[in-house]
Amino acid sequence: MSQQGNEKTYTPVRITTIKANREVNFPVFIHFKNVYLEYLKSGSQIESDKYKKLRKQKITKFYIQSSDEKTYQSFLDSFLEETLNSKEVSVEEKSELVTAQTETAIDRMKDDPGSEESYDMTRKAAKNLQRLIFENPESLNNVFGAEGDSDAIVQHSINVAALSIKFAKTQKVEEEDIDFLSTAALMHDIGVLKMEENHQELFNKPRNELTIEDKKVYYDHCKGVVKHLKDKPYINDKVIELIECHEETLQGSGPLQKMKLTKPQEILALVNCYDKKIITNKISPNDALKEMMIDELGNYNLDLLKDFKVFLKKEGVV
Ligand SMILES: [Fe+2]
Ligand SMILES: [Fe+2]
Repeated sequence: MSQQGNEKTYTPVRITTIKANREVNFPVFIHFKNVYLEYLKSGSQIESDKYKKLRKQKITKFYIQSSDEKTYQSFLDSFLEETLNSKEVSVEEKSELVTAQTETAIDRMKDDPGSEESYDMTRKAAKNLQRLIFENPESLNNVFGAEGDSDAIVQHSINVAALSIKFAKTQKVEEEDIDFLSTAALMHDIGVLKMEENHQELFNKPRNELTIEDKKVYYDHCKGVVKHLKDKPYINDKVIELIECHEETLQGSGPLQKMKLTKPQEILALVNCYDKKIITNKISPNDALKEMMIDELGNYNLDLLKDFKVFLKKEGVV
């Protein structure tokens, strides 16, 4: 569902996807005191100074009319294509734009998880994230742990996607599976965003502090987005299974009590556990790694954990 107002429906888009000095071919709105105000007319562009001011005011979202979504999509597609192909654009700028696209896709997925448009946007964002990460080796550290405009779950989803696809590549996971992994990682915790607000707080509780009752409620999020997508012809079963298994451990303590996972599933579960420690236990990437090597032994394959440590060191994350 898009947001309702002024009799029309509106969809949020991250302001970084609009950018200064780039003409838009659809009107752009801001949401102020429950009213959508036209901020940019179709055919116009934001001047740099005005854009900087908005960023300074910590305004993160513009709105477009829902009827303009397709137009916005093609605007964003060509903007990304141009940016990722450009030799002049810095890696920081490329990372910022790809991050903004993934944030917009996750917002969209949260609002309307069952729609093909939301899924398409997430697939595109996942593809561009792969391009960014694999074509610009130094981009991982721009994307991972970036203090962006997003809430913790959105940032966590982007972190997990970026880290897991690059780690998967070192583990010789096939390209097609890396592709599924990138999409699943962006969507894996949409289920948390769909939970009631008081239940969402469980996201911030460290896993070893979750009570049996907490787990019952919290682990429901693994099915959260799946139930909207399961029978859709445009989604691959491997993506569904990756999402369903992201809280599993090799000791069978996850919601499905699986003790055997495929390599991509285990990578997603391990990276999810690692990044969540950083976010929920509020510790450094280095301390989270130490915790992984002590507290999570047995939950993941020892060789995989050791390789992950080598990988994080090599990438300069720790
Ligand atoms: Fe999760
Ligand atoms: Fe997660």
